[in-house]
Amino acid sequence: MRCAACNTPSDDVVDNLSPFDDTAFIIGGYEYHYYCRTCLELIAARRMKMPVRYLHSRFTNFDWTCVDAKTTAGTVVDLQKLLETLVQENRPIVLQADEVGIGKTHLAAACAVSWAMMNRRRDALFVDCLSWFSRLARSGWKFNEILEELLWHDMLVLDDIGREPEYQDHVKLVLREFYNQRKMLIITSNLNRGMFYDRFGMEIVSRLFETGQFITLTGTVKTTSGRTVSYREQLAKK
Ligand SMILES: Nc1ncnc2c1ncn2[C@@H]1O[C@H](COP(=O)(O)OP(=O)(O)O)[C@@H](O)[C@H]1O
Ligand SMILES: [Mg+2]
Ligand SMILES: [Zn+2]
Repeated sequence: MRCAACNTPSDDVVDNLSPFDDTAFIIGGYEYHYYCRTCLELIAARRMKMPVRYLHSRFTNFDWTCVDAKTTAGTVVDLQKLLETLVQENRPIVLQADEVGIGKTHLAAACAVSWAMMNRRRDALFVDCLSWFSRLARSGWKFNEILEELLWHDMLVLDDIGREPEYQDHVKLVLREFYNQRKMLIITSNLNRGMFYDRFGMEIVSRLFETGQFITLTGTVKTTSGRTVSYREQLAKK
């Protein structure tokens, strides 16, 4: 058997129905295609409109030694395990860090792909909040219309929320609806826990954190001066 996308011959990585492939739908039913896991993941990432620079972000190409993670319960020993469990159990994930370039979006993308692979018939959307909400401002769309579109999905990645204070009521609505519908949320933000409560309200945020986890990431790689540097900064220096 060969992968329908990359044509790699393989015995062990064959896959069944191609739920991510729109062209697979034929009159009278579904056509069966076989894909390798790598291609299927990429199709899933593209399908949720993930930005190109994160299409290949996975758990497997993340350097876990670069980050320390904390939840309310304390230091996380095995971040990958925690994220995989949350994804499996459909529990909201909030990845927070004060700095940029620590890998929040990479991990959110990896979680999203992993979720999509486990929920093959369900629909996900990756929302880059800054560009989404500025588009919203330009488009003249009513928020209800946007909300309808967002709510139609079973999983949302809200990348970098909190940079659009003028839309906090809208984001609040999305959070509430997703929580109430028990839909999966993967959020990244620079806002710390306190700011999260202020911005989106105690009621919804505390519930979100009860079912899911608010995970704070810090960089562990230190320069000689003792300053923490992010992975991106490290790469830039190389
Ligand atoms: N620990 C890491 N291992 C591998 N790549 C990383 C790691 N941290 C960051 N990166 C990469 O560095 C870039 C910046 O990370 P990103 O996820 O955009 O950071 P953030 O969203 O926290 O600002 C991305 O291309 C990402 O893939
Ligand atoms: Mg980011
Ligand atoms: Zn393939």
